[in-house]
Amino acid sequence: MAQVKQEETLKKIVSHAKEYGFVFPSSEIYDGLGAVYDYGQNGVELKNNIKRYWWSAMTLLHENIVGIDSAIFMHPTIWKASGHVDAFNDPLIDNRDSKKRYRADVLIEDEIAKFDDKIEKEVAKAAKRFGESFDADLYRTTNPRVLEHVAKRDELHNRYKTAMEANDLAELKQIILDYGIVCPISGTKNWTDVRQFNLMFKTEMGSTADGSMTVYLRPETAQGIFVNFLNVQKTGRMRIPFGIAQIGKAFRNEIVARQFIFRMREFEQMEMQFFVRPGEELEWFSKWKETRLKWHKALGMGDEKYRFHDHDKLAHYANAATDIEFRMPFGFKEVEGIHSRTDFDLSQHEKYSGKKIQYFDPELNKSYTPYVIETSIGVDRMFLSILCSSYEEELLENGETRVVLHLPKALAPVKACVMPLVRKDGLPEKAREIMNMLKFDYACCYDEKDSIGKRYRRQDAIGTPFCITVDHQTLEDGTVTIRHRDTMEQERVAIDQLPQLINSEVSFNALLKKLV
Ligand code: GAP
Repeated sequence: MAQVKQEETLKKIVSHAKEYGFVFPSSEIYDGLGAVYDYGQNGVELKNNIKRYWWSAMTLLHENIVGIDSAIFMHPTIWKASGHVDAFNDPLIDNRDSKKRYRADVLIEDEIAKFDDKIEKEVAKAAKRFGESFDADLYRTTNPRVLEHVAKRDELHNRYKTAMEANDLAELKQIILDYGIVCPISGTKNWTDVRQFNLMFKTEMGSTADGSMTVYLRPETAQGIFVNFLNVQKTGRMRIPFGIAQIGKAFRNEIVARQFIFRMREFEQMEMQFFVRPGEELEWFSKWKETRLKWHKALGMGDEKYRFHDHDKLAHYANAATDIEFRMPFGFKEVEGIHSRTDFDLSQHEKYSGKKIQYFDPELNKSYTPYVIETSIGVDRMFLSILCSSYEEELLENGETRVVLHLPKALAPVKACVMPLVRKDGLPEKAREIMNMLKFDYACCYDEKDSIGKRYRRQDAIGTPFCITVDHQTLEDGTVTIRHRDTMEQERVAIDQLPQLINSEVSFNALLKKLV
């Protein structure tokens, strides 16, 4: 039941995103292309605002962080050095009856999630039964039925974790068989063996068969930063500790692409590599955890929607790693990863390129390979988290429902919509005047079609924080009505107060100031 409700919520968000110009399926008139999406007229504005928020927080607020924009194509040896050619794999399994391909780890993780669902159902049932006096934490740790589900979940989780750590593909298949996991399409257990599948897209560069070489579409932006470490450090006269930030597209041939823009084949990352002295990395890791969580929370979507998920299984090059997870309609999911990557990447590039990649530390009077803390967040996942947390079907006092996006105001695609009450008597001209005053600072729109009520709803649906209505009184005394999206309250203000009023709520400055 809970599962169905979650799916319904996501479905509504997907169709809202399409109906209001946020996200369209790619190549839609050709029936779409799996896990590839286009951003529409409102989506691109929201996306740009997310990127601006991240970029400003990194580069304006930290004197020692600079940005770059490296190419998507890179020398193929980079991906050998980084480990992606040999180890950027997902374990896949095919069902012989439906001919469908799945990620073995995802099938098992879904099975684990079923135990979590059962636990949540028990707790929800008990909460209903016991009312206000109910102590959910106590119930979770004492109720025999809940404890039974927890024990079964942990048993499966441990078995799965051990198999993944040992890269034991036969054991992954055995788990799928032992737990009776069936193909959702055919309903059968007629599985092939589990195989590894590399996620990088390949293409050919060069025009002749002999002269061409295989290149990859980058699966992460980070390597473009590592291979430019010396360029930036030397030309920017950067001193450790310092960071390099980058926003750009990344590509992964995901086997199981689902949950809308959560897992895509073409997506965008915002990554920052922070170079530090060896031995100081764990201290910086904690600082970046705190800094990044603060960045998320400053958007005001609710502190309870975030949690850290520290990795128990670390990649061989990492000595600490955590995810910032956000509560999506389909559970807590990773939005950002923070990794202490040691000197792995720079050392590998030194080895494979044969070029010395070291930093001379004038204070220590010695050279070393810097250690790296990476913060890596997906723009599209951030977009999805904002959309999910903002979407509300609000029941109004008059019995009607309004669909509203409570977007963080600084990120809203349109900040204000100016509307003449009627399309005559000089009101449209006055409204245009106001729009012309505001448009240099804020994304504004103008709407004179349909009733005022309908126009308000249209703006609510795209999350516009303010609607400004010009009426006959405006012509007499230079005041307008300003309506607030979240409360629907209206107030009468002088036109010359508008810039300050809007600014106080939508400004990036105010948002950024929360971070320092
Ligand atoms: N450089 C490190 C790195 O790429 P990752 O955990 O694989 O780490 C970082 O990816 C972030 O990129 C994730 O937290 C997620 O937000 C985003 N991301 C990864 N794969 C994605 C996909 N297929 N679709 C959308 N976003 C994705």
